[in-house]
Amino acid sequence: MAPIEVKKICCIGAGYVGGPTCAVIALKCPHIQVTIVDLNQARIDAWNSDNLPIYEPGLDEVVKAARGKNLFFSTNVDKAIAEADLIFVSVNTPTKKSGIGAGFAADLNYLQLATRRIAEVSTSSKIVVEKSTVPCRTAESMRTILEANSKPGCTFDILSNPEFLAEGTAIADLFNPDRVLIGSLQTQSGKDACEALKNVYSNWISTDRILTVGLWSSELSKLAANAMLAQRISSINALSAICEATGASVDEVAHAVGRDSRVGPKFLKASVGFGGSCFQKDILNLVYLSESLHLPEVAKYWRAVVEMNEHQKDRFARKVVDTLFNTITGKKIALLGWAFKKDTGDTRESPSISIANHFLSEKARISIYDPQVTESQMWLDLTNYGDIPAEPIKPHVTICKSAEEACKNAEAIVICTEWDEFKTLDWEKIYANCPRPAFVFDGRLMLDRAALKKIGFTVITIGTGDRV
Ligand code: UDX
Ligand code: ADP
Repeated sequence: MAPIEVKKICCIGAGYVGGPTCAVIALKCPHIQVTIVDLNQARIDAWNSDNLPIYEPGLDEVVKAARGKNLFFSTNVDKAIAEADLIFVSVNTPTKKSGIGAGFAADLNYLQLATRRIAEVSTSSKIVVEKSTVPCRTAESMRTILEANSKPGCTFDILSNPEFLAEGTAIADLFNPDRVLIGSLQTQSGKDACEALKNVYSNWISTDRILTVGLWSSELSKLAANAMLAQRISSINALSAICEATGASVDEVAHAVGRDSRVGPKFLKASVGFGGSCFQKDILNLVYLSESLHLPEVAKYWRAVVEMNEHQKDRFARKVVDTLFNTITGKKIALLGWAFKKDTGDTRESPSISIANHFLSEKARISIYDPQVTESQMWLDLTNYGDIPAEPIKPHVTICKSAEEACKNAEAIVICTEWDEFKTLDWEKIYANCPRPAFVFDGRLMLDRAALKKIGFTVITIGTGDRV
């Protein structure tokens, strides 16, 4: 049989995953028509404007090059589904807030609604690809939903094709991925569907980087990859506490350890804690899965990675309070960086949020600056965390247009995100406008500690003992 030729792709969900991924597919496959759909009209309008809904270096250029040619953004979900040969499901799968598995399991409601829509609207056979991070065996439930609701003559092949892009480097990661993983059932039609998707990617990725595996291995590999990356960060962060207590430098330790080719140098940067939409969610998913499989020791092991991350954020916030002579009540604290990492406007699980709330609970006044995050997003994050009403905290929070403005008269400057521009601020001027002693807390080990000390700042850096 001739391989299935993919001519039209529909992507359900125009978020951080679906948007960049399918925009790059459109750019690299001019012969394929790609339609990205979402229920959120404002989001689709933004994708169709000059002001894209997400900030991602290189994304503007990709969208401009393909939009209107073979890349389309629409809220007409049904039409795009009906026309497509292959459908990516890239909807959100947040951690459940209530019911069984609350706080751990993934909320698959959006995924199931999208799957039902595919079954109801399709009048021809489709390849359905799960892109969203999902618990193991989700493909099985998608298949059941599709088969139970399909029209006569329509068949569905389900593939798992997890996304490994990191925000901030999404376009580079998509252009040149370490690997593309495609999981399928090992039946003939499963293998054919897998081949069809492989042919899409092989327009720009060499086939030795496209790994084809079983469905469940693919689903578990995504959780495993994120859990192991997060585990490295929690490991180096645990060591950072020892470094602070002993006078060792965590950067030196990470460098020495990372030079062992079996360990490797990446993902060993100590920090104020990891954030982002994936790491915590995926580990909690793994914990839930392990518990469901009656593997309590395995669950405990992975849970500790998240607990260490919580401890690191808390430890850093406490250090600020301790250093400011055990009270920050009424004091102004500048928070530089609100995104969960540099080069993104995404704030999901950003350590800044819990640190800001710690300071607010100590009755400090905080001034926040981030080059990409909007003021309305910051308010949403502040009030959603612990369901705090906005009114009582409003007088204590100022959102600033520049780092200089945020730092003016601050008794402590706290770096939470490693934006490059923080390295080149006019620190002399900032110092001149700070009360004495002037403190900088570097939660990202990014500033020139010696230069700041020379200006007059007292610098406290994660993972660096005072004796260094
Ligand atoms: C992650 C995975 O890297 C990606 O493969 C997956 O598809 C989605 O989840 P992302 O969350 O976008 O990507 O960013 P990542 O670069 O992994 O950073 C996650 C968090 O870890 C950030 O808060 C970052 O600041 C922090 N981090 C990362 C560290 O604290 N130290 C490091 O050495 C690396
Ligand atoms: P991710 O980071 O996983 O891409 P996002 O929250 O950024 O997550 O994006 C997911 C998108 O999926 C949202 O814009 C949401 O509106 C959209 N979405 C959720 N359910 C559906 C659905 N049934 N049909 C179309 N779009 C959906």
